[in-house]
Amino acid sequence: MTTVLHISDLHFGRPAVTERLESLKMFVGEIRPDVVAVSGDLTQRCTNAEFARARVYLDEIKTISPCIVVPGNHDIRWLGAVARNLDFAGLLRRKAHDFKYSRYTRHISDDLTPSLEVPGAVIAGLNTAHGITRGSLTTRLKDLGVIGHVRRRDIERVKEAFSNAAPDAARIVMIHHNPVRGASSGRHGLANTGKALRAFSSLGAELVLCGHDHQEAVHSVEERAPGLVVSTAGTISNRLRDGRASSFNLVDVDEHNLRITTHVWRDPDGFFPAAERSFRRKVATEA
Ligand SMILES: [Fe+2]
Ligand SMILES: [Fe+2]
Repeated sequence: MTTVLHISDLHFGRPAVTERLESLKMFVGEIRPDVVAVSGDLTQRCTNAEFARARVYLDEIKTISPCIVVPGNHDIRWLGAVARNLDFAGLLRRKAHDFKYSRYTRHISDDLTPSLEVPGAVIAGLNTAHGITRGSLTTRLKDLGVIGHVRRRDIERVKEAFSNAAPDAARIVMIHHNPVRGASSGRHGLANTGKALRAFSSLGAELVLCGHDHQEAVHSVEERAPGLVVSTAGTISNRLRDGRASSFNLVDVDEHNLRITTHVWRDPDGFFPAAERSFRRKVATEA
């Protein structure tokens, strides 16, 4: 069995809560997951100080388990996103791009689409946080700068990561923005949801890990992408939606099944299992 601890939206800065972060770290120490997957929004205001705290925390987690991280919309610098859009001649394009992700790359990683294989699973991380760019524009003004999109060239990276992985490894994609509408927010995180999910499914993905909505959820999106399950992790921080508790999702994958257990924070004791869903794996069904 392979265990993936899926956490999201830590929001180092004012929303971060030390007791919850410490409790989460202790949980990692207790269960020693095969991998810790962090689906973005490490910071609140993308400052160097917030990133430095996130770095220290991730380094502590990494002493226990391997870790894979993608950026969220809070982890990029807005000015870079705007400059890139205004630069019609393309002269500043590279510089603006570098500026946009400069704090993330300085403190966390210069790989915005990392992948990681552990026995039993491969996770292909994909950057969906591009700021205010053409691909992220929708007809809703309040989506501006908040919503993300999946770029075609990044889907190629997923394809590459999957084709290099062991045949029996569960294929997992990790993005920041939620592709399934949030129950409270009523919002899709992605501008090109259908296209992205179909692409992931056609590449053999069985599971998508995401965050951004700050409300935990587990979905099967059978009608749009056969066999695909979506794990939306809630936030560890206090940026909570509708008075919900902080949470994370624990994913167990074995030969036949994929089980996701949502753990929620109970003041002042720690995180406890609250809900569990199991799915027959795509490969098991096809066999
Ligand atoms: Fe967030
Ligand atoms: Fe976000």
